[in-house]
Amino acid sequence: MAGSLPCCNAMTISDNFPTSNEFRSDTFTVPTQSMLQAIAYCTVGDSVYKEDQDTLDLEAKVAQLAGKEAGLFCCSGTMSNQIGLRAHLHQPPHRILCDYRGHVYAHEAGGLATLSQAMVTPVIPSNGNYLTLDDILDNYIPDDGDIHMAPTKVISLENTLHGTIMPLDTIKEISGWCRANGVRLHLDGARLWNASVETGISIAEYCQYFDSVSLCLSKGLGAPVGSILVGERKFIEKANHFKKQNGGGIRQAGMLTKMASIAIDENLEKLLVGHKFAKQVAQFCEQNGIALESPCQTNFVFLDPKKVKIDPAVLAELAVKYKVKVMGYRFAFHFQNSPDAVERLQLLLKEAYQHSLAHPYISKGAVRIYRSAETATAK
Ligand SMILES: Cc1ncc(COP(=O)(O)O)c(C=O)c1O
Repeated sequence: MAGSLPCCNAMTISDNFPTSNEFRSDTFTVPTQSMLQAIAYCTVGDSVYKEDQDTLDLEAKVAQLAGKEAGLFCCSGTMSNQIGLRAHLHQPPHRILCDYRGHVYAHEAGGLATLSQAMVTPVIPSNGNYLTLDDILDNYIPDDGDIHMAPTKVISLENTLHGTIMPLDTIKEISGWCRANGVRLHLDGARLWNASVETGISIAEYCQYFDSVSLCLSKGLGAPVGSILVGERKFIEKANHFKKQNGGGIRQAGMLTKMASIAIDENLEKLLVGHKFAKQVAQFCEQNGIALESPCQTNFVFLDPKKVKIDPAVLAELAVKYKVKVMGYRFAFHFQNSPDAVERLQLLLKEAYQHSLAHPYISKGAVRIYRSAETATAK
């Protein structure tokens, strides 16, 4: 199916990607022709022995973009988050505080419990969209000798989260407090690229406030695999130890890291194409009374399932009718979508919402916004 892929060096919207109608996630983006061709001239050293030049170059390039001493190429965003958090923690009992929707807590297979033996405080942001210092202070457990408690040692933020951007002033405030109180600050920056191209705030400016940041390569950028964890050199060396322990050592990583490097060079600005599509669909929803769960600021549209009352089975049926791939109430956009598929998605949303007005869907359990086991796809 993926056969020959179009070359996409310019900031153009392509109708030809096999992912043109893919709205389940930006992780479905595929490597461009120039990325695939680059494999032919990648280096083939053993990256476990730090002998692969393309991998060393990519790690140095992302570390420099982030203004950090060192970078570590990891198999996935899950791995770079989990080993990063593990490397910050020493001996339990200890605790991590994060947003209740945070990927590190909600979608990483319980890794904080197994790998870090960490208690988690999942916090609901009082403003509905992002954590503030007040939210943190309301939920922080100090290391004050109370043996009933597991003290908060790390705070893990996520930017973007559900497509919304955490304001820089909020980050600065939280970071200042963490540094003054000896609490480590990690960022799941899987989509920090999106925040950066949208706001014009550089990756380095964002990263200076964190002790560690995980930056994904295989979301909207189109790289096939991986994530880079950045931080101080000593911290990265410790994280590399956990990476190896968890089977994350990749031998000839060059073919992956070469593609990822080209993805950063060629596709970073193209993230804005996905933002444009998402904002178009969000505006369409607004005009048609379809309620959103969070404001659309980058490349996601999240419906509010409690308000729109759309039956997931109807969404699945309409996905076949309109030939789009969807998953639950979240819609992801990227530069490989076609304008035509976006139009069809809008028609789907309108019909699904009209159906819900006549036949409101009342969930019998907790509504999950997205769940990979419940995808609706069409050819
Ligand atoms: C915010 C966020 N962090 C981390 C990850 C994990 O990335 P991976 O799928 O590469 O493990 C994802 C995956 O979609 C994500 O959305």
